Amino acid sequence: MDRIRITGGQRLNGVIPISGAKNAALPLMIASLLTDETLTLTNVPRLSDVSALSRILSNHGVDRSVAGKRIGQSAETGQTVALTARQIVDTCAPYDLVSTMRASFWVIAPILARMGEAKVSLPGGCAIGTRPVDLLLMALERLGATITIEGGYALARAPKGLKGAEIVFPKVTVGGTHTALMAAVLADGTTVIENAAREPEVVDLAACLDKMGAKIEGAGTSRIIIQGVSRLGGAHHAVLPDRIETGTYAMAVAMTGGDVLLEGARADLLQAGLDVLSQAGVDISETNEGIRVRRNGAALEPVDVTTDPFPGFPTDLQAQLMALMTMAKGTSRIRETIFENRFMHVQELARLGAKIRLDGDAAYVDGVEKLTGAPVMATDLRASVSLVIGGLVAEGETMINRVYHLDRGFEALETKLGRCGAQIERISG
Ligand code: EPZ
Repeated sequence: MDRIRITGGQRLNGVIPISGAKNAALPLMIASLLTDETLTLTNVPRLSDVSALSRILSNHGVDRSVAGKRIGQSAETGQTVALTARQIVDTCAPYDLVSTMRASFWVIAPILARMGEAKVSLPGGCAIGTRPVDLLLMALERLGATITIEGGYALARAPKGLKGAEIVFPKVTVGGTHTALMAAVLADGTTVIENAAREPEVVDLAACLDKMGAKIEGAGTSRIIIQGVSRLGGAHHAVLPDRIETGTYAMAVAMTGGDVLLEGARADLLQAGLDVLSQAGVDISETNEGIRVRRNGAALEPVDVTTDPFPGFPTDLQAQLMALMTMAKGTSRIRETIFENRFMHVQELARLGAKIRLDGDAAYVDGVEKLTGAPVMATDLRASVSLVIGGLVAEGETMINRVYHLDRGFEALETKLGRCGAQIERISG
């Protein structure tokens, strides 16, 4: 298993290109199941989650072609991926494929909408919490599907097709909203989704579905209205920039000090995160090329932050913010309200010398003078990258194990940081 070795203490200076968003690319790829024509996606990040989903889609009969690297294109430039589901050859998504990635459960919606039935393995728990799919199944039931759970699989049937309906989510769910959208676009009649997720990735999926011929209004608000159509066609769509990658590198620069342009980043996708960094004393400015992040010598101020659905502070940046606040001048409070068990990084940050107390859904982080390098590992993607942020300022060497978590969601991490001056290297084996 690969490891990443970081020798802390270098400031970051230069340019970091921001990749396409993993959490937009995944539902967009799944949307290719809705049509027998080709969906061409550009700016698709090179990530292991993207490869894993590609394998799952090919099991359903999706043909994939990836445009080769052009002259002048660096490895961090996103790929162009053409997906064609001329025929769905298998309506079942088996356990061994779905268990590697929760988002693959979302294939249930387009397969059901197009084929009248789908059988998808229940995804099970994961490191950040129980993460049930009851609300996704509720949405499909509202659209007229019958759902049975058998042998660890959810079996959804709608032999006469889905019917538009009102879907009211009792809590905001990104995956529930993606699922409802992908099912409703081919349903007969009008669907209204109330308390829909407003995340930019939902807006990106809706924009792509519209290009494919869907009729969707209100994406980006908590009320989405969909007029079902009988079929969808092919389209070209560029994956939006990754706001979580943006926020992660912004926090890395905030941690080390320095001056970095996050090229291609969009501030409107991450205002809550950027506001927190400004409160902490980091200099953030928008430029034509992206977002510029600077910190020169000034101390980091502690913050009081609660994670919330968009446009609130994202849970996917909570671990990174906690790493940053380990070096603030004072005590920060960070509350996690989306997932009940997303504090697995606390013990590992403590190994670097961080002082963090947990009390229910809140973490109290007492800033320390310095962190010290240590071998660490984490159980999920964002927790792993919080350790990278810690390692960048820790005295001496930090060895990050279980790098496959990072490869799920950060394209060319060590190259991007290394080019800005970080002493970071991957050790194979
Ligand atoms: C998406 O997960 C993201 N994944 C997550 O990013 C992100 O943390 C999360 O949204 C919240 O922003 C992808 O986009 C691939 P939810 P999702 O449904 O859709 C509860 C990362 O690191 N819930 O919005 O699975 C659930 O338990 C990942 O990139 C139910 O109770 O999240 C949670 O408490 C991690 N029943 C809350 O809703 C359901 O049926 C929000 O989850 C569904 C969800």
